[in-house]
Amino acid sequence: MNMRFLDACWGKPVDRTPVWLMRQAGRYLPEYMAVRSKCTFLELCKTPELAAEVTIQPVDYLGVDAAIMFSDILTPVEPMGMKLDFVPGPVFESPIRCMADVEKLRIPQMEQDVPYVIETIKILRRELAGKVPLIGFGGAPFTLACYMVEGKGSKDFAQIKRMMYAAPDVYGALMEKITTMSMEYLNAQIAAGAQCIQIFDTWGGILSPADYERYVLPYTVRLINGLNRMETPVIHFVKGSGAMLDTVVKAGGDVMGLDWHVNLGAARNLIGPKMAVQGNLDPTVLYATNEIIEREVKRVLDENAGRPGHIFNLGHGILPTVPPENAKFMVECVHRLSQN
Ligand code: CP3
Repeated sequence: MNMRFLDACWGKPVDRTPVWLMRQAGRYLPEYMAVRSKCTFLELCKTPELAAEVTIQPVDYLGVDAAIMFSDILTPVEPMGMKLDFVPGPVFESPIRCMADVEKLRIPQMEQDVPYVIETIKILRRELAGKVPLIGFGGAPFTLACYMVEGKGSKDFAQIKRMMYAAPDVYGALMEKITTMSMEYLNAQIAAGAQCIQIFDTWGGILSPADYERYVLPYTVRLINGLNRMETPVIHFVKGSGAMLDTVVKAGGDVMGLDWHVNLGAARNLIGPKMAVQGNLDPTVLYATNEIIEREVKRVLDENAGRPGHIFNLGHGILPTVPPENAKFMVECVHRLSQN
């Protein structure tokens, strides 16, 4: 078993810098499109054999040091009682707007309501044995609340911010419920065999540092503290958090995910030696020539300056129009340039 990814999560020294890519299973891979052409995205998520197959595709093709279970951050929200569709972005038919909507939400029974997630993890642990570790994941409470209240993606997030400021009781009740659901969901993934958990807070960066601390941090703290993480490291990724890293680190976790707006070395100096970091190549660098890709990989590695506890990744998900061979070349560069 290739242990470099887990070792780096715990801050231990490794032979080469481990690397994986956020959203590494997906539309940029022709093998994914072949499977996806036969079913909808949600059907793919709910069919364990297929979800496991597309999880392993990038592991074999790219040569990455970790697999991430194929699913979506919104899959556990559907059994809370919210009808979900992907077009291809997520859409909830009836967004949450008032206390009565929050009260109607139920906390799913994980074994009964998301059996396909549990089963996908079990299949993957068998199929990945002797290869690479398996990452499970979920959305952070705030990012899930953004989709549940807006009903879809948003440019200004006016609905969720309006609720946060103008109906704080509704906002608080919703966040509590999502936090409880997420804790049970992620612990079920750990129990099923996930060897690391990544929490995606894609929209945490739309708030001021003060509002992040007041309206988001307490819930993420409760979530991370509630995870069975003695043997399972937790990666916390808050996109757009460069200007408030000192606040975001208070959420805890073992690894801080970084986007490309920060210098990785400067971020490490601020975070301190107790936490590992993951990141942070600009995903659009994968459109560049090999020469530029290699230069940018080297720059990120140089910013880390050989410190243990670095997992190489993009600063956000890989884009669907990236040439797959460029992603493969990036992975090869990370391994070659970081060799001890
Ligand atoms: O990383 C992986 O390979 C595992 C799979 C994964 C998906 N979504 C599959 C997916 C993961 C980890 C996610 C997380 C996710 N989903 C996040 C957090 C990470 C991020 O990108 O910020 C968010 C915000 C979502 C919500 C979501 N799901 C959006 C906004 C979209 C539409 C945009 C897009 O990329 O298509 C999705 C759909 C989605 N999730 C697809 C995939 C492969 C595309 C669906 C398709 O095949 O048509």
